[in-house]
Amino acid sequence: MSTSAFAPGKIILMGEHAVVYGHTALAMAVDRGMTVRLDERPGPTRLENSPIDDPRMGEALHRVLPQNGVGVHIDSTLPIGRGMGSSAALAVALARASLQREGRAETEDAVNERAFAVERVFHGSPSGIDHTVSMHGGAMLYRRTEAGPVFEPIQLPQLPIVVVDSGGAGNTATMVETVAGNLTRNAEYLACMGNLVATTLPALQRADLPAIGAAWSENHRLLQAIGVSTPLLDAIVDTAIAAGATGAKLAGAGGGGVVIALARDPQAVCAAAAAQGWAAFSVSPAPRTA
Ligand code: MEV
Repeated sequence: MSTSAFAPGKIILMGEHAVVYGHTALAMAVDRGMTVRLDERPGPTRLENSPIDDPRMGEALHRVLPQNGVGVHIDSTLPIGRGMGSSAALAVALARASLQREGRAETEDAVNERAFAVERVFHGSPSGIDHTVSMHGGAMLYRRTEAGPVFEPIQLPQLPIVVVDSGGAGNTATMVETVAGNLTRNAEYLACMGNLVATTLPALQRADLPAIGAAWSENHRLLQAIGVSTPLLDAIVDTAIAAGATGAKLAGAGGGGVVIALARDPQAVCAAAAAQGWAAFSVSPAPRTA
């Protein structure tokens, strides 16, 4: 017997890091993701093939699978470790496939519990935004509260979003620690990011590309201020804007990973990125699933 499940990755349109401190962030599931297939096999449970080369994989699998009897196959259309939610997509796909394998219903609670357990192996104490948007698809506003996460699906118009891959991975847990290490200084910047999400919502809903772009660039400056950007990410932002993007920001934890740019002419941004040796592609939202 074999079971399989797909889950999408995500981009954080605005508010990463701030979301860890209870501010609202806006995330969108994307049309790329992870597929997990589980086959029955004799002997210990093991990873048969995987694009993820991470020593924590064994522990992650054992959060949701038995010690023996399962062969795990993972395929990805996401760049790995680039802030596009590859671990969250893996977590959700693994949660779904493991529930199917046990003949259990893929209820929201059951998927959430398993996916969050896997996410914690990779990210320590994540806000939960990544696996929540992967579970639900579409776009959502997400806020962490003492009583648990509060999220609200949000209907966005089609936005011309280009992802530019810096080619290097960032470490989410390390970047979150970097921000926490200087919280007295960073708190004000984080609050500004949260406010920026709220004030940009009307522009997002009417697809006002200049206003959204300006907000993304402002969000990037705030991310620079809390120390999670890099000279390479800054150079990618500048290149995208020089190629006609109305604005751009790093997306995800930073320290590496991807930049998102908003561009009326996505091809021009992709070409400018390619000229510098950076992979770039357009993304669309993944359909809402729940
Ligand atoms: C990572 O995709 C987003 C961060 O805000 C961390 C988190 O929310 O757990 C940097």
